[in-house]
Amino acid sequence: MAKSSGGSLLSAIKLDKKAGKSLQYQLYIALRDMILNGSLHGGERLPASRVLAEELSISRTTVISVFDRLTSEGLLESRTGSGSFVKDVFSQQKKLISSLHPPTKTIQTNSADSGKRPMVSRSFLKKASQLPAPVAHSVSQSFSTAIPAIDAFPLPLWARLVAKHSRLPDLTRYNSSKGSAALRHAIASHLHTDRGLVCDAEQVYITSGAHQAFSFLAHLLLDPGDKVWIENPGSRVARNGLLQSEPELIPVPVDDEGINVAAGQQLTRDFRLATVTPSHQQPRGVLLSLPRRLALLEAADQANAWIIEDDYDGELFYNKEPLSTLFSLSQQQRVIHVGTFSKTIFPALRLGYFVVPDHLVESVDKVINSFLPAVPLPVQAAVAEFIENGHFATHIRRSKKLYEERYHAMMHNIDRHLAEYLNPIPTATGFHLLNLFRHDCDEAALTQAASERGILVRPLSNYCAAAVEERGIALGYGCIRPDEFNASCATLADAFRSIIKT
Ligand SMILES: Cc1ncc(COP(=O)(O)O)c(C=O)c1O
Repeated sequence: MAKSSGGSLLSAIKLDKKAGKSLQYQLYIALRDMILNGSLHGGERLPASRVLAEELSISRTTVISVFDRLTSEGLLESRTGSGSFVKDVFSQQKKLISSLHPPTKTIQTNSADSGKRPMVSRSFLKKASQLPAPVAHSVSQSFSTAIPAIDAFPLPLWARLVAKHSRLPDLTRYNSSKGSAALRHAIASHLHTDRGLVCDAEQVYITSGAHQAFSFLAHLLLDPGDKVWIENPGSRVARNGLLQSEPELIPVPVDDEGINVAAGQQLTRDFRLATVTPSHQQPRGVLLSLPRRLALLEAADQANAWIIEDDYDGELFYNKEPLSTLFSLSQQQRVIHVGTFSKTIFPALRLGYFVVPDHLVESVDKVINSFLPAVPLPVQAAVAEFIENGHFATHIRRSKKLYEERYHAMMHNIDRHLAEYLNPIPTATGFHLLNLFRHDCDEAALTQAASERGILVRPLSNYCAAAVEERGIALGYGCIRPDEFNASCATLADAFRSIIKT
């Protein structure tokens, strides 16, 4: 005869009439947990509902409701005339649950020591091992290279647009991952007027930022082991996104004309993809010269390779027209243009796009819905209206002026406080500046000393996939108010003094 749980069961159940949850719910949770954690065994008989109700000073109806619920969930069975029993099948379920949630202590994410298969895929471990050290998303914004001038963004207008489009029933449905036609048209027309890039809205695809564009394009274009030229130093966003497809990354040196194509060809002529930041090399800040643009296109033609043009802040040239995009220059149509609103609107929007040559549209259209989640429609609609009504162009015009002023303020204060330590590489767009160290100085020590003083700087090594000889830091000035430059640069000079022995 099955053992009854009686006294031990009752002492384990604690019901609290003042708790926010009903007594029925508390009893259900208590019994369910005891069954799930094995305190009540399969085949064990529960006390009769009348007995349990009396002992717990609750109504019998409450107990019966709980028994009914546990029975309907398959954890109890009721045998006529004998009472309620814990179901035997549970031993099977327990095995299943423990295989799904093994105790934390025994999880081996890296199987090297145990010889067992790791809990995550080997390919994930391989990709993770190639990632650069994570960069903190710091609350401190001094010299952040990633944060634009949010003080200059028309937030009230933006809030009205978002509210308006969030009320439209048509925008509550599933939508194609390619993106809304309105936004794709707006982007195509913006690219035409602002960047001289001519494309049809059909060639434009909406993503949640450049990072997602890189992951998708890696998926689309690369097989594991394919050779990919990346700029060194270069963008972490591109590198992280491309790792998705386990390529062989070939770090190609960068100089004051941008990526050194001849050096890349010495490393390998047989590359499948090159990813570059031609309008504003990340982090060096230089423009890819026209001869280098042509050389890169030629090298890609010879290798039958793709080029990804990461135009992350190409709209923000201060006072001169940017060079033609690689997309426009490519006769062979082997360039994919990636853009983002992270710099021109704000990064938390998570909105970007890519533009493919005409001949790739059909292939991308076929897979896009399966591989890419759609970006929320109300956000797309708000941005489309923001662009169509001219607010985006106005914001860009103002931002360019503001970043140019901040750039000069930055240069002035570097000269004033940091000339002894830093040699800034001039730039003509965006809102960050690479500064090379004038003396031998440890990047990590400087970064730490700056951080202790509340200043965020980004060491050059953060952008490197292979070691480089130069040492330095990137300093952003997008979100620094004019009255803060002096104090922040003085504090940074103090950080230098603290680590440089005299
Ligand atoms: C080189 C480069 N590309 C693209 C981006 C933007 O990425 P996302 O659109 O995913 O924010 C950044 C952001 O800092 C960047 O530095």
